[in-house]
Amino acid sequence: MNVLIIGAGGMIGRKLATKLASSPVLNGQEVRHLHLVDVFEPSAPLDTPCRVLTEAADVSAPGEAARLLANRPDIIFHLAAIVSGEAETDFEKGYRINLDGTLNLLEAIRQDASYCPKLIFASSIAVFGAPLPAPIPDTFHLTPQTSYGTQKAICELLLSDYSRKGFVDGIALRLPTIVVRPGKPNKAASGFFSGIIREPLNGQEAVLPVADDTLHWMASPRAAVSFFLHAASLDTADMTGGRAVTLPGLAVSVAEELDILRKIGGEARIKLIKRVADPLVEQIVAAWPRQFDASRALSLGFAPDESFEAIVRSYIEDEGISI
Ligand SMILES: NC(=O)c1ccc[n+]([C@@H]2O[C@H](COP(=O)([O-])OP(=O)(O)OC[C@H]3O[C@@H](n4cnc5c(N)ncnc54)[C@H](O)[C@@H]3O)[C@@H](O)[C@H]2O)c1
Repeated sequence: MNVLIIGAGGMIGRKLATKLASSPVLNGQEVRHLHLVDVFEPSAPLDTPCRVLTEAADVSAPGEAARLLANRPDIIFHLAAIVSGEAETDFEKGYRINLDGTLNLLEAIRQDASYCPKLIFASSIAVFGAPLPAPIPDTFHLTPQTSYGTQKAICELLLSDYSRKGFVDGIALRLPTIVVRPGKPNKAASGFFSGIIREPLNGQEAVLPVADDTLHWMASPRAAVSFFLHAASLDTADMTGGRAVTLPGLAVSVAEELDILRKIGGEARIKLIKRVADPLVEQIVAAWPRQFDASRALSLGFAPDESFEAIVRSYIEDEGISI
């Protein structure tokens, strides 16, 4: 089986590639060829029986998507995107990468009438925006309040229509916010949910721009990888409620995050958090979805994290943080 990961140099892409390289079986079939693509050449996972090809390519550039399909990957994980903060400040770049990139890929697939790969697309809970019920049911209509959320919502519809026509076998995964995000802060407006855990655990100061009772829908990087792998093995004939699925997460408040940080890292780590209210971030966060009824995803076999404490402990273990 051939697998292509676009956005393989990103946070989830790297972890997905590493997991697939070390356990190269998908849906009972051996992964023989792993093609890893990003705008920069992603690093190749070590110690793998797979044949790995890494390359730099921009999926939004004319002709690039068709070129990436040359060896007809059976499964495509499409994770390439710019995140919410950047898509909001750079309108043109957001539409070029987040919308044109996906459309280029769908069109390149459609051009080959004898080819119908499985395409797993990284969508987001940002397709929903206030006013929202609590919890938000699977059947709630799409109400994005940002350019990023709008781009993801359009791509979900495209994926659904191209699947309906039989050009592709698509699934859109509405990921919760992934916490704790390893590495440096990114431009996502939700970045502080990771920052208030990651920075103190690494002995650095973190800024908390919102109130302690702010609630958010979260999942760990480990859960994110498991969602993509599970989607690759799903029989889409079972997806009677549509091709997009809101994934199970945990509704965690900032106060709960701080409690777990205190429990694991002690009071000294809490003191590294500086409360600097940011009305703009507060306004953005207020429009975000907080809690879902993800029963459809659960019935399809997607599994959430056990607890927020387990999320933090998995970060410490995976990133080799010493406490
Ligand atoms: N991390 C989260 O909390 C979260 C939540 C919801 C949805 N998502 C979605 O999941 C996907 C992966 O998220 P992530 O956190 O790993 O993001 P990330 O920013 O770490 O990775 C995205 C990768 O896509 C690459 N990319 C951007 N434009 C590209 C292009 N034109 N061609 C090829 N590659 C390109 C980037 O260089 C980057 O390495 C994204 O689509 C994101 O929108 C993430």
